[in-house]
Amino acid sequence: MTEHLFTPIKLGQLTLKHRVAMAPLTRSRAGQPGNVPTPMNVEYYRQRASAALIISEATQISQQGQGYAWTPGIHSKEQILGWKAVSEAVHAEGGHIFLQLWHVGRVSHPVFQPDGGLPVAPSAQPVPGKTFIINEAGEGVWGDVPVPRELDIPGIEAIIADYRKAARNALLAGMDGVEIHAGNGYLLDQFINSASNKRNDLYGGSIENRARLLLDVVAAVAEEVGADRVAVRLTPMGRFMGMGDDTPEQTFGYIVARLNDWKLAYLHLVEPMMVGTVLDQDTDPRWDTIIKQLRNDYHGVLMLAGGYSGETAEQAIAAGRADVIAFGRPFIANPDLPARLLGQTDLNPADGNSFFGGDAKGYIDYPALA
Ligand code: FNR
Repeated sequence: MTEHLFTPIKLGQLTLKHRVAMAPLTRSRAGQPGNVPTPMNVEYYRQRASAALIISEATQISQQGQGYAWTPGIHSKEQILGWKAVSEAVHAEGGHIFLQLWHVGRVSHPVFQPDGGLPVAPSAQPVPGKTFIINEAGEGVWGDVPVPRELDIPGIEAIIADYRKAARNALLAGMDGVEIHAGNGYLLDQFINSASNKRNDLYGGSIENRARLLLDVVAAVAEEVGADRVAVRLTPMGRFMGMGDDTPEQTFGYIVARLNDWKLAYLHLVEPMMVGTVLDQDTDPRWDTIIKQLRNDYHGVLMLAGGYSGETAEQAIAAGRADVIAFGRPFIANPDLPARLLGQTDLNPADGNSFFGGDAKGYIDYPALA
């Protein structure tokens, strides 16, 4: 049977009304102090509750896991209460929401670290890039990222425990599940990719070892909240934040095959045409083969994101390339995106100047159809 963008689908314990999901989108507007979701954040997600599934913006699992100004966390009581207001608003509108769990690893700065020390990473290799920090005047500015500290085994074990606790907190906050962010050059991706993992212990070297941290985190989180409430997001072949792998077919083939060991809610892959928030003109030609192989190897629900329009999303579902499509920038600018795609109505353009930080402008003032 051919599936379509507007046919329902089962995902874990949920039945989604259609397949237009909202991709995780950092908006850097958490309340200060404490990186706590605010009533404005509640309104933003409430407006977008007609998504088949909302995946929240990336949310740090611990203070150590923060790398950018004003991103929300899920490690304090206040944050749990803030997120609870979000999940209740989304549920009241008939929607569903997963919280994206985030540890940035080396993409951080001493200003965010609990002890003012160095950010952590698989290896003492700096990221070629900057991060958006807060200066002494409390303003957001681009700051250089220092050479990180290589994690020791107790440090790795503490992070796995932080993921477990964050997943439990997400459920306390009323979330339908969690998506483990293992892409875009953040901590779990730093362990996976040979470009950033130079270790020679259990967590480095072979593909099995480089995948170990992700799989340990999945095991801990699935044990804590149930595998059918857990998803994983990967960006195979992504090059954002200095990522790169010597053998992406084998590395990601292995990971996807192992993820079959749990019956996860879904696997989320990002088309590598995106480098962060901009289009990569130079997508690796091996990608088309790799995505077909991963689709074939993975036995559960597959979500794809990256540069989709209503039309290409429908084609991807009908052709069996994916089961659900997540939209990022179109959902920023169109709170009622599913209705617009169904009616083939014009879309509001997204204003890149208000993606990160700021107030209600470019956040909760995009108009819905009358
Ligand atoms: C992103 N993206 C992203 N990805 C992720 O896994 N966690 C995140 O917090 C963010 N944050 C984020 C913020 C902004 C402003 C943009 C534009 C993107 C990537 C996003 O989920 C998605 O994969 C890309 O935007 C590509 O999809 P679209 O925008 O082409 O539909």
